[in-house]
Amino acid sequence: MISKRILSFFAAALLSVGVSTAVPDEGMWLPMLLKQLNEAQMQDKGMKLTAEDIYSVNQSSLKDAIVSFGGFCTGEMISPEGLLLTNHHCGYGQIQQHSSVENDYLTDGFWAMNREQELPNPGLTATFIVRMEDVTKQILAGTEIAKNEAEREAIVQRNISKVGRVATVGTHYNAVIRPFFYGNEYYMYITETFKDIRLVGAPPSSIGKFGGDTDNWMWPRHTGDFALFRIYAGPNNEPAEYSPENKPYKPKHHLPISLSGIQENDFTMVFGFPGRTNEYLTSQAVREIYEVSNPHKINIRETKLNILDKDMKASDEVRIKYAAKYASIANAWKKWIGENRGIRKANAIENKQKLEQQFAQWVAADPARQQEYGSLLADFEKNYKALDGTTISRDYINEAAFGVEIVKLANNFTTLQALLAKKAPQSDINAQVTKLETYAASYFKDYHAPSDKKVFAALLELYYKNIDPKLHPEIFSMVRSKYKGDFTKYAEDVFAKSAFVSEAGVKKLLAEARQGKDAIKNDPAFVLASSVADYYSANVMPTYTSVNDNLNLLYRKYVAGLRQMQSDKNFYPDANSTLRVAYGKVEPYKPVDGVIYTYYTTLEGVMEKAASGVAEDYAIPAKLRELYEKKDYGRYGVNGQMPVCFIASNHTTGGNSGSPIINANGQLIGTNFDRNWEGTMSDIVYNPDQVRNISVDVRYMLFIVDKFAGAGHLVEEMTLVTDDTSGLPQVDARKQQQPEKELSKKEKKKLEKELKKKKKKEKAEVEA
Ligand code: ARG
Ligand code: GLU
Repeated sequence: MISKRILSFFAAALLSVGVSTAVPDEGMWLPMLLKQLNEAQMQDKGMKLTAEDIYSVNQSSLKDAIVSFGGFCTGEMISPEGLLLTNHHCGYGQIQQHSSVENDYLTDGFWAMNREQELPNPGLTATFIVRMEDVTKQILAGTEIAKNEAEREAIVQRNISKVGRVATVGTHYNAVIRPFFYGNEYYMYITETFKDIRLVGAPPSSIGKFGGDTDNWMWPRHTGDFALFRIYAGPNNEPAEYSPENKPYKPKHHLPISLSGIQENDFTMVFGFPGRTNEYLTSQAVREIYEVSNPHKINIRETKLNILDKDMKASDEVRIKYAAKYASIANAWKKWIGENRGIRKANAIENKQKLEQQFAQWVAADPARQQEYGSLLADFEKNYKALDGTTISRDYINEAAFGVEIVKLANNFTTLQALLAKKAPQSDINAQVTKLETYAASYFKDYHAPSDKKVFAALLELYYKNIDPKLHPEIFSMVRSKYKGDFTKYAEDVFAKSAFVSEAGVKKLLAEARQGKDAIKNDPAFVLASSVADYYSANVMPTYTSVNDNLNLLYRKYVAGLRQMQSDKNFYPDANSTLRVAYGKVEPYKPVDGVIYTYYTTLEGVMEKAASGVAEDYAIPAKLRELYEKKDYGRYGVNGQMPVCFIASNHTTGGNSGSPIINANGQLIGTNFDRNWEGTMSDIVYNPDQVRNISVDVRYMLFIVDKFAGAGHLVEEMTLVTDDTSGLPQVDARKQQQPEKELSKKEKKKLEKELKKKKKKEKAEVEA
């Protein structure tokens, strides 16, 4: 007995030692906690900065050069004139919007040769973090009395809006407050959002998207995935709506760019806005993803991609219409495939089970723990059992039913149809009609009904055949009786009769709605969409929501317990689109037995891929070949080679695209744009041997801007360095720019009062 306990103690001790040495680069850390949790380790790894250099509230620091780009990517300041560097695939939408047949910037690239030529992008934003704060106490105040998750959440939401309001009253800042560790902690980020962001430069897709979907998620990689924008500000360097009068923003800090390159084992750091990870899932949850969700979703998407691929190859029109859609369907499809391989290779399910066993032993060893956590694992089991059928239904509804364009479109008419059915005031109906008109106009620009018809037949058949008939929406019994389960016949019929197949049809529906007539209700595409939606709200959503409320509570406890159990281990919270720091080193890896991948690629590889003729994605511009043949690399090449991309062991995820990758001195060495296929499971479990983030070497960016595009004036405004001087602003300059002061308590109170009065007055006016 005793010996068993001692053994398990040793096993636990070994495990925790194993954790801190074998998983050195895992984690997405909070900037304000670096000093406490990471600084020593980062310096051990070679970093020459302090935590205060990276994040400070008292002086400008690296964080002042980082922005959330549009809320979906990251960007960094690289000049004193507000020049912003991000990925080509992050700016893709904007580049596309400015493109026309005459000025095809996607194909040919775009370079503003002066400030007047820089192109505004309504709706695009860049958000800085002014400071952050632990607000756990304030947010949880009063939750002790909550009787369930829903009540707790209501109190939390009330506190969030109050704390956020008080923190920003009288300033032009916003407050973002998010739960961390499933609501064990709450942090507030005070943000400053700029709204006049102009496109400055983008390479042609044959550079910025070189390798396309063929190379997506893969190493070795040769993509110049970068684009340049500029932040514009009002007369006082403050955020302002677009105006021709606006001036380039003067950032508190911009990253100096290193020309010294990278070596194996160099310290690296990625600073950005990772979107979502799920590192603390239990083994059941990972098993569900691995055995059920991923395989089904992969199969559904593959079916769809095969159909689209054939049609796109047969017609240029279809190819152009579906290029972006295809890329985004393929992006997640390919990621899930890699994720499942990685889960298997890392023995993720088994390791999670071991951790759970260890947890159970730890709980059993102490009565107080038993009290707190005794039923936890059984409760997980119960709740995941209760989810049975729900997850797979959701997957088929989202991926198969609503993965068909006509079904998704028809589903968007639900609100309008409900208004018509209850004979709502015509003004409400018309408002809805106007919205749908705008939506339909852009929808039909990229729609090809014959392809969608094939997708319809194939995906709904998968839904029908691959899922337990108990989980079928009602419409399937009609398909069984009327079409003998033949989904091709069903598709023929729907596409012959539905108004949703063409813009003219939809226009007619909407025109009739303006007359108060409901021609939507009996449309066969709408009938299908409603049947699926009804099934979802009656049979899926209630379980899904209530079980997830339970699970959230269980995970909150579980993570708290794990942190207690492994008290010498640093825990990081799951990514949640807030600013984080990841660090690691430049490292090669061994993807499979017998193969080692080097940590960098060069222009040689671009030429090799171009010559291979394997894929259209490998076509290159003539100018690039010319520069290559002349070895005209200027100061950006090394020993007659032009570096292109490199990998490092930083823990990143979607949203980190465009993040700066920074060296030991705080200088920019690259821009993150992808992860390796073998490493995509790091959203669930980090395997240090296999996980690498992929970056464009900053010297390739400079070479393309300067030598390829002839936009040397942009390089001139950047700060290029060749030595290891600190990448930080000079101390006096650092202190110059202080963020807007927070108001005193008294001032806040006064403003709060005024605000309340104003609100009351507005309310009274509305009611009057
Ligand atoms: N895999 C990267 C990401 O998740 C890049 C996607 C864009 N590139 C592409 N070839 N589709 O966003
Ligand atoms: N390409 C991803 C993005 O757009 C980054 C790759 C990843 O998921 O790590 O954010």
